[in-house]
Amino acid sequence: MSLSKSATILIILLNSLSIEATLPDINVVKSQLKQSGTCCSSLGYFLPGKVHYNLLTDLGYQNSLLSYWSQQEQSIHPACIVIPTSSNDVSLAVYVLNTAYSMSMRECQFAIRSAGHTPQAGAANIDGGITIDLQSLDEVTVSSDYGVASIGTGNRWGNIYPTLDALNLAMIGGRVSDVGVGGLMTGGGVSFFSGRYGFACDNVLNYEVVLASGAIVNANSTSNPSLYRALKGGSNNLGIITRFDVRLFSQGPFWGGTLTQPITNKDAVISFIANFTNSATYDPSAALITNFAWDNGIPLIIHDIEYTKPQPYPPIFSPLFALPQIDNTMRIAPLSSFTTEIAASSGPTTDGRSNLFATLTSTPSEAFMSAFYSLVDATVTSLSHVTDLLFTLTYQPLPYTLYSKSGATGGNVLGLDRFSADFVNALAVVSWALPSDDAVVYAAVQQLFEDGEALAKSMGVWNEFVYLNYAAQWQKPVSGYGETNRAFLEEVSMEVDPGGLFQTQVPGGFKLATG
Ligand SMILES: Cc1cc2nc3c(=O)[nH]c(=O)nc-3n(C[C@H](O)[C@H](O)[C@H](O)COP(=O)(O)OP(=O)(O)OC[C@H]3O[C@@H](n4cnc5c(N)ncnc54)[C@H](O)[C@@H]3O)c2cc1C
Ligand SMILES: *[C@@H]1O[C@H](CO)[C@@H](O)[C@H](O)[C@H]1NC(C)=O
Ligand SMILES: *[C@@H]1O[C@H](CO)[C@@H](O)[C@H](O)[C@H]1NC(C)=O
Repeated sequence: MSLSKSATILIILLNSLSIEATLPDINVVKSQLKQSGTCCSSLGYFLPGKVHYNLLTDLGYQNSLLSYWSQQEQSIHPACIVIPTSSNDVSLAVYVLNTAYSMSMRECQFAIRSAGHTPQAGAANIDGGITIDLQSLDEVTVSSDYGVASIGTGNRWGNIYPTLDALNLAMIGGRVSDVGVGGLMTGGGVSFFSGRYGFACDNVLNYEVVLASGAIVNANSTSNPSLYRALKGGSNNLGIITRFDVRLFSQGPFWGGTLTQPITNKDAVISFIANFTNSATYDPSAALITNFAWDNGIPLIIHDIEYTKPQPYPPIFSPLFALPQIDNTMRIAPLSSFTTEIAASSGPTTDGRSNLFATLTSTPSEAFMSAFYSLVDATVTSLSHVTDLLFTLTYQPLPYTLYSKSGATGGNVLGLDRFSADFVNALAVVSWALPSDDAVVYAAVQQLFEDGEALAKSMGVWNEFVYLNYAAQWQKPVSGYGETNRAFLEEVSMEVDPGGLFQTQVPGGFKLATG
C-alpha cells in the first residue's frame, strides 16, 4: 500500500487546535474511492487488515456480529465491519466516509458501535453499509494522581471496575458488567453513585472525539465547551467519541445485593418506591432498581439494592426488608462484584435473543405505578402464546436531587434542568425466544406504552423526558430533551458537522430531526 502522498495535517477547528491526525491527501482518497467504487474496499486500502467482509469465512466479522446483545442487531449484515485500533484509525475511516459523502457515494452509510447493547435493529449496525466496531479501543488508564481515568469507548464495565477496585477507586458508570461504555455515556448513564454525583455523562472531564472532517479534538469545559455540553446526551449525532477522561473518586467495598420477594408484596413495594423517591429524604448513597419480572407468565419481585458505604442494612431500606422475602444476597463487596452479579442474572436469559426496551417517566405516584403494573400484567397475559417470554417492568427512582447534580459540572442536554419534581423511570425489558414473535411483541409493547402514557397524562403524573438509553425505536428521546436543547444540538451539529455527515450518513440511533 502506498501512502506516499500522505501528509500530517493539523486542522484548525473552532478556534482551538485539534490533536494531530495523520490523514492522506484528499485527492488520494478521492481517486481511491473512484477506482475501487466502494467504500468498503477503499477503507480496506487505507486500513489494511482492519476491514472484515465475510460472515462465513472471516472470524473478525463473525465475532463482531455475535457480540451484539440482541438477536435483532445480530441479524443485520453490514457490507463490511471496520475494527479500528486507534483514534487515528477512526479519524481515517471517518475522513474516507466523509469524502465519499462529498462525492455523493450515498451507499456509504455507516453505523457506530461500542459494546452493542442497544436492542433495536440498526441502532449500532447497518444492513449493507459499514459498521465501525470500536471494541478494540479498550484503554483503561489511571492518572498518576488517581484523579482521572482515560477510558476507551469500546470497553465494557467489566473490563474497567476490577482495575479501579484494586486501587480503591471508582467512576460514575454502568451497573451491569457486560454493558458498553460508548452508548451509556453518550446517552446519560445511571450509576449506583448517581445519588451522590449525578449521571455518568456529568462526570466526564474531557471527550476525545473524531469529527466529520476526520479531525480529532478534545471537548472539555475550556476547549470546545459547546461541543462538550452537547456530547452529554448527544448520542451519535456529533462525532465518534474515542476516549472518555472521567473523574475518579475514592471508593472501597460497599453494601448491596439482590433481594427476591413474592409478588404478594407488590402494593407495599410500590408504596415504598413512592416514599423512597423523595428528594427531601433521599439518602444519596442509596441506589434501587426494582424489577417486576414475569417468567413465562409468573411474576416475582427482584430488587437490585446498593448502598455505596460499607454499612449493612441502612435504615432507608428497612421497610423493604421488613416484607416477606424469598432470598437475598446482601453483603459488603467491591463494585465489580455487584455489576457481575446483575450481569450473571440477566445475561444468560437475554443474550442473543430478541430483546426490546421501552420507557416512560412519571412522578412517583403510587396510584400510577400500580395501575401501570396492571396494564403490564394484562399485556403479559395477552402474550402468553409467545415462546419463552421474559417480561420485566423496572421502576427506578430519578429524584430531583439526582438529576440536578448536572448543574455543578456545566450541565448536559437531557433537559431535566427544566423540572424540579421527583420522577420515577419505568422501563420494560422484554425478551423472547423466536424472531417470528417479534412483530406481535413490538405491537403489544408499543400499545402498552401508548396506554401507559395516556394513563399517566390523565392522572397528571406524566413527564415528557424519555431516557434515551432505554428508549424503543418508536420513541423520541431527543424531543423529550425539550426544544431549547434540540435547537442547541442542531446549532452545535452545524458547527462541527456542517455537511450533516452524522445526520444523513449515520441513520441508526436517535437523530436530531426525527428522534
Ligand atoms: C443488561 C443491560 C444493562 C444496562 N444497565 C444500564 C445502567 O446501569 N445504566 C444506564 O444508564 N443504562 C443501562 N443500560 C442501557 C445502556 O446504557 C444502553 O443500552 C447503551 O446504549 C449501551 O451502550 P453500548 O455501548 O453497549 O451500546 P451500542 O449499542 O454500541 O451503542 C448505543 C448507541 O450509541 C451510539 N454510540 C456508541 N458508541 C459511540 C461513540 N463512541 N461515539 C458516538 N456514538 C456512539 C451508537 O451509534 C448507538 O446508537 C443497560 C442496558 C442493558 C442491555
Ligand atoms: C481540554 O482540551 C485542551 C485542548 O486539547 C487540552 O489541552 C486540555 O488538557 C483539556 N482539558 C482536560 C481537562 O482534559
Ligand atoms: C418514608 O420514608 C421516610 C424517610 O426515608 C421514612 O422515615 C418512613 O418510615 C417511610 N415511610 C414508609 C411508610 O415507608
